[in-house]
Amino acid sequence: MPKKIGFTYNVKSEFPLKVGDPEDLNAEFDNPQTIDLVKSAIESGGHEVILIGNAKNLLKMLPDLKVDIIFNICEGIGSRNREAQIPVILETLGIPYVGSDGLTMSLALDKVMAKKVFAAEKIPTPGCVGIKKMEDLVNLDHLEFPLIVKLRQEGTSKGLANDSVVHNRKELEKKSEYLFGTYHNAPIIIEQFIPGKEITVPIIGNSPPEALPSVQLAISGITELEELIYTYEMVKSPDVDYLCPSRIDKQLESQLGDLAVRAYKAVDCLDFGRVDFRVDKNNNPYVLEINPLPSLAFDDVFNLSPQVVGYDYNKAINKILDAALLRYGLN
Ligand SMILES: Nc1ncnc2c1ncn2[C@@H]1O[C@H](COP(=O)(O)OP(=O)(O)O)[C@@H](O)[C@H]1O
Ligand SMILES: [Mg+2]
Repeated sequence: MPKKIGFTYNVKSEFPLKVGDPEDLNAEFDNPQTIDLVKSAIESGGHEVILIGNAKNLLKMLPDLKVDIIFNICEGIGSRNREAQIPVILETLGIPYVGSDGLTMSLALDKVMAKKVFAAEKIPTPGCVGIKKMEDLVNLDHLEFPLIVKLRQEGTSKGLANDSVVHNRKELEKKSEYLFGTYHNAPIIIEQFIPGKEITVPIIGNSPPEALPSVQLAISGITELEELIYTYEMVKSPDVDYLCPSRIDKQLESQLGDLAVRAYKAVDCLDFGRVDFRVDKNNNPYVLEINPLPSLAFDDVFNLSPQVVGYDYNKAINKILDAALLRYGLN
């Protein structure tokens, strides 16, 4: 049945960089092309799309808004609850929406909190410590160099460069100081570094969630990445290839799919998500993070991966939408 679908999103142009801002400050927001693509994908399913945009637009439009459901890809602004902003507004008003609820959004955005849940569920994840200031750089004895220093509640490889992998106390202090200074004292996570392969698993659906074919990262043709990481600079680099199917054996592929679904269920993800892994030289997988709001850009995995099982981008978007409609009994 055709539906009226509201569409909430943030575009990069809402957040122009100011002088002195790091280049990756607005990294997570979408390009207008992605908005057009998702819109026409939903329309290809026979639905009508009402463009809403960000949370402020939603609040303005709410009194006259007549929609069956909202397709939400808003990244939100500010705290670790930013991806929860739209879901919580919609939940308050009883408006159905596509994707995870506020709790899952916030939990997953905070890498330290998400890893506590993974650990409790015995889902392998690298050991870590969270720090909020330089003086917290104590009690790291359970971690062994090399380590990686990341922003605790960011995505899109924000803040990550080659010197994020540190081999001694001096490098660790230097990188931590840099991140606190550049990103206005944003909290940091220091994590055990896993050399090896990097693979991500997209998931669609709820009952049960379906792990799609994994996508493997290759940098300059290399898949055994050792100390190479997916830095912010690499996001648009011609040296990076996304391989789908991944160059791994069937057993590892199915192990990653099972772990991804366990991580998805552990944080109560809904409708779609993506789980990022590193795999060490003995083929031990480690979950780095779960993204309940992964990029739907055309050059990202939600376009690549479905093709391997025989469907296209439009179908993938409609599968996500249908999963939500089914949950609400609106199908
Ligand atoms: N513990 C780790 N071991 C090895 N590489 C890592 C580790 N943590 C992060 N990375 C590298 O940094 C990239 C971004 O880290 P991730 O935790 O996925 O954050 P983001 O939310 O920015 O995607 C990963 O894709 C990977 O290349
Ligand atoms: Mg990631």
